[in-house]
Amino acid sequence: MPVVVDVLSEIAKNVAMSLPPVRAWRLRRPRAGVSYTGSIGELDRFAFLGLDLLTERVGPLAGRSVVEFGPGDLLTSGLAMLAAGAARYAAVDRFAGDYGGPEGRKWYTAIEASWPAKYPAVPWPAWLEADKFPHAYPDRVTSLELGVERVPDIGQFDIVCSFQVGEHVSDIAALANATKALMTRGGVAVHRVDFGPHGAWEKYRDPLTFLRLPDLAWRWMGSSRGTPNRRRVHEFVDAFQAAGLIVELHNLEVFESTRIDRSKLNRRFRAMPPESLRTRTALFVCRAS
Ligand SMILES: C[S@@+](CC[C@H](N)C(=O)[O-])C[C@H]1O[C@@H](n2cnc3c(N)ncnc32)[C@H](O)[C@@H]1O
Repeated sequence: MPVVVDVLSEIAKNVAMSLPPVRAWRLRRPRAGVSYTGSIGELDRFAFLGLDLLTERVGPLAGRSVVEFGPGDLLTSGLAMLAAGAARYAAVDRFAGDYGGPEGRKWYTAIEASWPAKYPAVPWPAWLEADKFPHAYPDRVTSLELGVERVPDIGQFDIVCSFQVGEHVSDIAALANATKALMTRGGVAVHRVDFGPHGAWEKYRDPLTFLRLPDLAWRWMGSSRGTPNRRRVHEFVDAFQAAGLIVELHNLEVFESTRIDRSKLNRRFRAMPPESLRTRTALFVCRAS
């Protein structure tokens, strides 16, 4: 399909989302990953991925407090972190889902049921009952329906994290500043960012097709829809450093075979380092300097 057709169709979707009745209807509908079907890999992707990345990069969660930006429609990742021993968990998301509703209960009970096989060495805590999560645990679970740009003083946490969120945040300096502000002295932050194409732009053979579009067209396509901000990996590194954090990059996935034709890219991307343009996903591990 020619790029222009996708551009027009994305602009139409964005205009529709700017209409209050359409927006209200869309926000009531479940978003990515919310319907639990029991298929293989679903729990790994939507419940255990964050825990596994944290354990890999910062060690066991036992006794540590965690704040997660943008957990999504349900607190599946938070339940897994508490089951793994986290002392408390806070969620900060621009749009809170129906965390305690029936769909959530399906996910939470599936997490508890699959736990012994997935983590045989980590016993499920006796105090934690999946079908009472999260409402029965106000001392351990808090949630704020706010963007990271406006996080109030909610104390500090041993671990600040997010998974597939940084690319949707409109102000990455705010993400970096909130990370620093919420981190305990000696704490650590782990942010996984997906720099690849999303939605309509995933089907193109050249994965960087979405970086060709002018900023104005990109805004017309996404200003009401939380589409990716197209900020690149080195811009995140700069933002974390400007917030006073020391940054390490891990788990890099790159578009290896992509030949970058700079002349086709939007002017803003033409001078960027090739390794930054090529990065598909990255894990930022940040500590206070
Ligand atoms: C692609 S979803 C990722 C959800 C989940 N972390 C996952 O891996 O499936 C992005 C999430 O980030 C949230 N989000 C977007 N911008 C945000 C912001 N500025 N502050 C906090 N959350 C934000 C969205 O509401 C959404 O829940």
